[in-house]
Formats: sequence, structure tokens, C-alpha cells
Amino acid sequence: MRRPLVAGNWKMHGSRAETARLIEELLAQAPAEPAAQSVICPPFVYLHEAWRLLRDSIFSLGAQDVCAESHGAFTGEISAAMLKDVGCEYVIVGHSERRLLYRESDQLVARKFAAAHARGLVPILCVGEQLADREAGRTSEVVTRQLDVVLELCGAGALEHGLIAYEPVWAIGTGRNATPEQAQEVHALLRARIASRDARIADATRILYGGSVKAGNAAELFAMPDVDGGLIGGASLKADEFLSILAAARISG
Ligand code: PGA
Repeated sequence: MRRPLVAGNWKMHGSRAETARLIEELLAQAPAEPAAQSVICPPFVYLHEAWRLLRDSIFSLGAQDVCAESHGAFTGEISAAMLKDVGCEYVIVGHSERRLLYRESDQLVARKFAAAHARGLVPILCVGEQLADREAGRTSEVVTRQLDVVLELCGAGALEHGLIAYEPVWAIGTGRNATPEQAQEVHALLRARIASRDARIADATRILYGGSVKAGNAAELFAMPDVDGGLIGGASLKADEFLSILAAARISG
């Protein structure tokens, strides 16, 4: 049985005051015992304040990125240990915005996954194809390659304490979500790929869908057998919308 998880990726939005206000709204409206776990990922500089406000609530804290190195002369970078130190339990790695805008390679993403895992953070590994890949019939090839590099470096065992988020790049921030069937097809493929190494871990690994998830489409996406929740961008910046999405995630599988 996989408990679903809904994570909010706030990206580079908000201010101190807006972060506090959004968290207050989430806390005020949050259900006492949601079926799904929930994680919010504010910008780095607001993490500690967010942790202070969120601790002992239903929300866990995550970061949006992490350095692959453990410490040292890496100006501007943030280590996994630092994220733990300010209260993070989760971290997103390999978001398509990092891969595309900051040229992060599959290898670097895998090293970030390993660094997070080594420090006891739960990595959320994002994979996903661009529109041209999908149109050329290369979706399976792309997501398999992105997953395989992590499986090679870290082993399937690392996924016991990790999550995957399938986020088709053409669906992120575009309002054009994958259909439930399109999402299910890729989620099943990713799970089968993990199963080829370890069937038990494949069965237990939660695979989130991300890309234009909203209150209006979350339930049908989350109803698919291999979709175990969502990674939410734009819609996570509104408390009522995010909580409606959280409420749409039920235990299945
Ligand atoms: P979106 O973003 O929900 O705004 O499409 C998803 C993401 O980038 O994780």
C-alpha cells in the first residue's frame, strides 16, 4: 500500500510576509488527518522560518534543490546537511527547470540524489520529456535514461527512501496537463523499470505526477493506479487550491 503524497513547489515566488501568510492559511484550513502526506518546498531563504511555523503540523518541509557536494568551496550552493539543519525532510532534484535552464545533466542530478539520500533527506527525483521528445515517440527513452542514471549510481535500494515525480515538460506551467491515461502509461513504465531491478521496491515507490495539476483535474489523475500523488507548482501558491488537491489524494494501490 502506497500512501499518496502531495508536494507544493513554490519555485521563486513570495516574500517573507507572503510565505508566512500562505503557511498561516494552510494551517488554518488543513484537515486534521489527511489521507495523503503533504510537503511544501519554499525558496531556500524562507525554509527555516517555514519550518518554525510548520513544525508539528501535517506539512513537512522540502527544498527545491541541493548541492551534490557535501561541503567546501562551492559559492552559492546549499548542502544536504544544511537543509537538514534548517528542518527539511525532503528535497526536489532534477526539476526540469534546473535541467533545462541551468544545464543540469543526468549525472549531476543522480549525484544530487545520492547526496540527499546520504544525509537522510528524501529526494524527489523529477523526470520528464520535452514536447519534441513526445512528438518523436521518445518519451519512454528519455524518462528511462533519467531514471537509469540514478539507479546505476545509487541502486534501487535508494528508492526505498525516495520518490519519483513524472513531470512532462510540456505540461509544466502551461495549463496543459497530461491526460490521466498519458500519466498512467509513463508511471507504469517507470515502475516496471524499477521492478526489473527489484520488484518489492518498485511496488513501494511512490511516483507523483506533476504538470498543471489543479483542484479541477487532481482527482482523475490521482485515480490512476500508478499515480501516487502530485508535485504541484502554480496551484500550490493558493492555500484553498492546494488543500483541495491534497484532499483529492486517496490511498489506493
Ligand atoms: P505547475 O508546475 O503545477 O505550475 O505546472 C509543476 C512543477 O513544476 O513542479
